[in-house]
Amino acid sequence: MQRPPSLRVPTGLPTRVKVVEVGPRDGLQNERQYVPASIKVDLINRLGHSGLTAIESASFVSPKWVPQMADGHEVMQSIDRVPGTTYSALTPNMKGFESAMRAGADEVVIFGAASEAFSNRNINCSIAESIQRFEPVANAAKAAGMRLRASVSCALGCPYQGKVHTDAVRDVVARFADLGCDEIDIADTIGVGTPGRVQEVMDAAASAFGLDRLAGHFHDTYGQALANILASLEVGVSAFHSSVAGLGGCPYAAGATGNVATEDLLYLLHGLGIETGISLDAIVEAGGLISEALGRPNLSRVGSALLAKRANLCGSTD
Ligand code: HMG
Ligand code: MG
Repeated sequence: MQRPPSLRVPTGLPTRVKVVEVGPRDGLQNERQYVPASIKVDLINRLGHSGLTAIESASFVSPKWVPQMADGHEVMQSIDRVPGTTYSALTPNMKGFESAMRAGADEVVIFGAASEAFSNRNINCSIAESIQRFEPVANAAKAAGMRLRASVSCALGCPYQGKVHTDAVRDVVARFADLGCDEIDIADTIGVGTPGRVQEVMDAAASAFGLDRLAGHFHDTYGQALANILASLEVGVSAFHSSVAGLGGCPYAAGATGNVATEDLLYLLHGLGIETGISLDAIVEAGGLISEALGRPNLSRVGSALLAKRANLCGSTD
């Protein structure tokens, strides 16, 4: 979406932001009822036509651990690929990497944690062991010419261990940097961060990896995600993850809710005059349709407001 000429981005904030849509993976992985592959494909296709350039589309993990993601191959093979859009998949080990390759992922995501307790619960190994598992994945991705992204869970707090030290985040970021990652995500898995802490953690991460390749992944459990995004923008972060209609949660973080809604993120960014290249209208439409298909409330405040406004306008012309 073009920035209206009257809007000037406040001094110090990035003028353009990359939005990584994670709804089809982080959002849907937590749905209790199986969501048919055709619904996942339709969602990804709609998102792909909105102007998004990065869509996390599948997860090649153990189907016993996350049954909802077991159809990743079918999903990735059935979507319409929009040229220039990166379709990524989570890969915790070489088995996952090989599946992602076969399915045609453009980017693989290794996912670790800054908390030992969470690492054990989520991927069944310590942080040090996880880095050993990721090393061959990173090498294989590089050899195949694929993009490599890494995610650092529990950067702002852990559901099992509580406080997570900034040094632990910096340490994992440095290890991921050594693996040759193209991008590293700082994830607030349970949404407990507040803006001051977020800036501290982003600054620490930026001391180990380029600020221009860091992304913020904020779950909105405590309603702080937009504030945390604004705080991250202030320190120069220019990539953020979000989930259409606020879908989601993490199966290994009890009580965690979805990521910040894509509609809400876009409304904030466009309101600040920051360019994203994404049509808010197309995302609102996709958010309404997926909420209806899943029979769940639309958790995007902006999405709900704009859909209600549309319905009123339609009603008044009848
Ligand atoms: P494990 O049990 O230690 O692995 O699990 P294993 O190597 O001993 O294998 C056990 C079984 O899993 C074997 O099958 C393997 O073949 C199979 P069996 O012989 O018993 O029939 N297996 C696999 N199957 C398919 N694909 C694979 C794979 N690997 C092994 N890649 C493992 C280790 C990592 C696999 C397991 O713990 C797992 O799958 N965990 C899933 C974790 C997950 O998906 N969590 C949610 C995503 S992370 C997230 O949401 C956080 C994020 O959003 C950021 C944030 O918000 O914090 C990214
Ligand atoms: Mg997440």
